Amino acid sequence: MSASLFDPVRLGALELANRVVMAPMTRSRAGGGDAPTAMNVDYYRQRASAGLIITEGVQPSANGKGYCRSPGLYSAAQVAGWRAVTAAVHAEGGRIVAQIMHCGRIGSHHNKEPGTETVAPSAIRAKGQMYSDAAGMVDFDLPRALRTDEIPAVVEEYRHATRCAMEAGFDGVELHCTSGYLPAQFLSTGTNQRDDAYGGSLQNRIRFPLEVLAAMGEAAGFDRVGMRICPGNPFNDLHDDNPRETFAALLDAVRPLALAYLHVIRFPAPDLDVVELAARHFGRPLLVNDNDNGKSGDKALASGEADALSFGRAFIGNPDLVRRLREGLPLAGFDVKTLYSPGPQGYTDYPPAP
Ligand SMILES: Cc1cc2nc3c(=O)[nH]c(=O)nc-3n(C[C@H](O)[C@H](O)[C@H](O)COP(=O)(O)O)c2cc1C
Repeated sequence: MSASLFDPVRLGALELANRVVMAPMTRSRAGGGDAPTAMNVDYYRQRASAGLIITEGVQPSANGKGYCRSPGLYSAAQVAGWRAVTAAVHAEGGRIVAQIMHCGRIGSHHNKEPGTETVAPSAIRAKGQMYSDAAGMVDFDLPRALRTDEIPAVVEEYRHATRCAMEAGFDGVELHCTSGYLPAQFLSTGTNQRDDAYGGSLQNRIRFPLEVLAAMGEAAGFDRVGMRICPGNPFNDLHDDNPRETFAALLDAVRPLALAYLHVIRFPAPDLDVVELAARHFGRPLLVNDNDNGKSGDKALASGEADALSFGRAFIGNPDLVRRLREGLPLAGFDVKTLYSPGPQGYTDYPPAP
């Protein structure tokens, strides 16, 4: 018999009470020092009936920050803030992992602390703009290309953030390896024009994410590390000449690490079935995001393609999404204007179903 969304499942060392996973969502509401606040505790506690919460993208260092008011996971104050979040989720019987997101070239100095830098594999500015509190919409920074001898220190940032995550009580960590951020910038031909051991050949382009995964696995245990991918995703001006070949090589190299899970966003790339690619080159456990605002139901589970499904937008207006899905209750929408605004409005004020 095929599994339903409401059956328990094990992803590596993570024991989930159900297969409804909350997808990572940046909400831009961290407090001073990029540390989580009591409001962030409320937000995650409200959603703790998910089988697993994956936090918003969290920067592993000040350089890794791209967006305004995004939280970090490298200082004592940030660890203390996150500890209150994980304790609240655990008290409700939930599980929570931290998504480690180094934005690389997708950033603006307007959103960063003084003295920090925007760094990337190559000095190529992304086309497009981002929001900053200080100056409104601004161009992305022109990044500085990392020197070869600087890359180990960036890998160490991920190791340190993972140690901080475990200290803060997280059940695990997820590497953000898509959407045009730093690991994806190393993987992709359009953003990686290096001629050292981290660029050029396919084996060189996959080196950075592999070193990062090794560091994260050493810090947390590989069965507490997941990775998120979306081959072919052009978000944030990302281009790769051959996403199928790139991700096949990456996943072939990742498979022996026996990670907790691979998290795949279903994306309609030409001639590329990303779930099939993941199944073939990574195997299981597979967490699938259908990228359709929660409309897919549990088809991917019923067909046996996935071990669990993640839902992003549906969790914004429905903190009790698991109950609503189980009981067939109507789903509430959400206000786009307050997605990234500071304060509780549009964040912690969506009520559970009566
Ligand atoms: C407000 C918002 C913020 C997001 N932030 C992140 C993020 O920090 N990390 C990430 O991997 N994906 C992020 N995403 C993508 C979601 O995790 C998810 O893949 C996407 O919304 C599609 O799933 P859905 O149809 O269930 O919403 C974000 C999406 C939204 C709507």
